Amino acid sequence: MAMTYRIAPSILSADFARLGDEVKNVIAAGSDWIHFDVMDNHYVPNLTFGPMICSALKPHAKTAAGVAVPIDVHLMVQPVDALAAAFAEAGADLISFHPDASGHVHRSIQAIKSKGCKAGLVFNPAEPLDVLDWVIDDIDLVLIMSVNPGFGGQSFIDSALRKIEDVRRRITASGKDIRLEVDGGIKVDNIRRVADAGADTFVAGSAIFGKPDYKSVIDAMRAALS
Ligand code: DX5
Ligand code: ZN
Repeated sequence: MAMTYRIAPSILSADFARLGDEVKNVIAAGSDWIHFDVMDNHYVPNLTFGPMICSALKPHAKTAAGVAVPIDVHLMVQPVDALAAAFAEAGADLISFHPDASGHVHRSIQAIKSKGCKAGLVFNPAEPLDVLDWVIDDIDLVLIMSVNPGFGGQSFIDSALRKIEDVRRRITASGKDIRLEVDGGIKVDNIRRVADAGADTFVAGSAIFGKPDYKSVIDAMRAALS
């Protein structure tokens, strides 16, 4: 069965002085999702943007033909629930959080879904997958970190490949339609390997926004995946 692959540019590496245009341009270049990295200077040692920026960008998150492009919010915040609710109100389509940042993981998932958003769990490079034993039937997305969270432009950590294989087995066993997304150090020259391990959705920040022509990078990623 042919896999549907999605490319989710991370606007963490965009020009923050021109965020609306950056979102429009990267969508015109072929983005499937917009990845929105929320950092709180507590769970991670960096500070980015909050729900007001998300709602300001929401009207820009559509194709020229007017088709909405999902906003994929990656919460690197602790605690989780109040900000997750604020992002649901701000137009997020998918909201993912780190289970180690939530006191009650199952409750956080239910709270996100009760707002009409898809819910995801994010696993740091050294974080085990054990919570999936208990909540895989409740989630829509698993996000595997292939760098430590907090910064763009880091190098891909190879042990993520084994973890992706493990998650793919768990998703297949669950029989559920769950996205398997990978975040950190994804480039044109390693995306195929990551797909072969079982990922279907690829976050890329510096690889796309670090180049003048976003479309040529996204096209090269799709060519590598095809
Ligand atoms: C890291 C963020 C990533 C980051 C990826 O904490 O979650 O989404 O933007 O950046 P690159 O693609 O440059 O590794
Ligand atoms: Zn991210």
